[in-house]
Amino acid sequence: MAKILVTGGCGYIGSHTIVDLIENGFDPISLDNLTNSDESALEAIRQITGKTIPNYKVNLIDRNALNTVFEENPDIEGIIHFAALKAVNESVIHPLLYYSNNLKGLINLLEAALAYKVHHFIFSSSCSVYGDSDILPVTETTPLQKAQSPYAYTKQAGERIITDLATGHTHFKTILLRYFNPAGAHPTALMGESSKNIASNLVPVITETAFGKRKNITVFGTDYDTRDGSCIRDYIHVMDIAHAHTLAMKHILSHTQATTDTEIFNLGSGNGTTVIEAIKAFEKISGISLNVIFGPRREGDVVAVYADNQKARTVLGWIPKYDIDQIMQTAWNWEQKRS
Ligand code: WQD
Repeated sequence: MAKILVTGGCGYIGSHTIVDLIENGFDPISLDNLTNSDESALEAIRQITGKTIPNYKVNLIDRNALNTVFEENPDIEGIIHFAALKAVNESVIHPLLYYSNNLKGLINLLEAALAYKVHHFIFSSSCSVYGDSDILPVTETTPLQKAQSPYAYTKQAGERIITDLATGHTHFKTILLRYFNPAGAHPTALMGESSKNIASNLVPVITETAFGKRKNITVFGTDYDTRDGSCIRDYIHVMDIAHAHTLAMKHILSHTQATTDTEIFNLGSGNGTTVIEAIKAFEKISGISLNVIFGPRREGDVVAVYADNQKARTVLGWIPKYDIDQIMQTAWNWEQKRS
């Protein structure tokens, strides 16, 4: 079984990916400094898969601690790198925090990968690299616009760092996975989106409002040039995102020929959903009418972004299974179970 180092393995997408890796015959280990997650995810992984996964509580900025992980696991064959800060609006307020954490961490990890001869690297990127594209749906070759937030810029810069490194190291195989809007929870409701920080993403804000943890939900802007005035996003179930990582790792482990190319894949459903439509989808599956306030636009938001996912379907054999209703249902089940 190939051992895979999953950074951010106790986080939302990382923990779901570890479950999928185990279910597909891999041997994952987690590295997570737990600043925005906790080790309860490991217990959920154990309940779902029967496997106990170790977590190295390491900050990627700490190179010595990072080296220890590789020293203790000389059989690591691949790395999936999730560990990063990811709140678009928070990055606007704290740009240096995002540049330091996300970029220094990435560079340390890449240097360690080369030093310990780990030659398969998958990077958690984001649709935010496209900026406010006027070409929709976006494909992997759609020109990147100016990043609309420091968060998005750390993803653009991260992609460039990895691409440049791969160009000079023909045996270093890299894939960039550009997630659209990950949402939903594991069907068992044993794991889901629960950051230590106050949720800013739309779907957890919806479920927290429904549960009564918030008095209302504010729609950030209804004066955009869209079908109902609110922003359009491509909500993709976290289980679909997780499985794409397993397929991507299988893909690069099976390709032995030397290459300087970095492969890029969009991980989105291919469907654009407005904020108001997302709220209505939740109300439909839950039977709960939410207290909605229509407020001003939010700094850093793009008007619309959704994916052309044909390349991931064709090259990786990826077929998204969950739709917006199942995203809302699993997110709601998780909110009720964890609260
Ligand atoms: C979605 C829409 C908000 C909350 C996400 C991830 C980021 C990256 C890119 C993967 C926007 C609106 C939200 C609320 C609202 N993905 N909204 N009221 O900003 O698209 O970024 O995708 O790496 O990590 O966070 O996601 O869920 O914050 O916002 O109206 O209370 O919902 O304005 O239009 P975003 P989001």
